[in-house]
Amino acid sequence: MKNNNFLIIFGLVAIISFTITFYSTTAFAQSTNQTSTLQSQQQQNSFCKLTESDMLGPFYKEGAPFKERFGEGVEGERLIITGKVMDTRCQPIQDAILDVWQANSTGEYDNNGFTLRGKIKTNSDGTYLIDTILPKEYVAGDINRPGHIHLKVGAPNQPILTTQLYFEGDPYLTDREDKSLVMKVTDENGTKKANFDFIIEHYDQYEK
Ligand SMILES: [Fe+2]
Repeated sequence: MKNNNFLIIFGLVAIISFTITFYSTTAFAQSTNQTSTLQSQQQQNSFCKLTESDMLGPFYKEGAPFKERFGEGVEGERLIITGKVMDTRCQPIQDAILDVWQANSTGEYDNNGFTLRGKIKTNSDGTYLIDTILPKEYVAGDINRPGHIHLKVGAPNQPILTTQLYFEGDPYLTDREDKSLVMKVTDENGTKKANFDFIIEHYDQYEK
């Protein structure tokens, strides 16, 4: 009789343990599913503000080649700008093209060749790197322009953003330059470093 009671109690304990384990595992799976659904909803709902555009200016030249390093052998302080190109959902854009042109360290453009003109493509995570020299200010008509980098940014068959990037602390900056386009600049062993993320219109994002 004692043995029978023991077996009944053992059986009940086994059934209760199994039931508790089953329900807690199911509840965990459900909560994990809910978390990942919520995360992807948040990702879809996140919003990045479009980068401001800026004037094209008179010195743009089509047909610049792809380059890893700008201004090879050109006098000037080396400058590295890094960042990402993203859509308005803050998703990185792979193979976006940055078409870059700029003045040299005495404020002059190469209007005959492609010195300090070139294209760069973003990586699979949307990152880019511009390895160049620091452009200097120049006079355009009766206006002193602060040092700046011109860019057209966009993926093939998508809208192209035309804008300019400026450098914090430049004494020639005025109210004409949008503050959101002014980069902080640091100095690392004689190389200037700056960071800028571009947010551009990209209609592929709506097909995903
Ligand atoms: Fe310019």
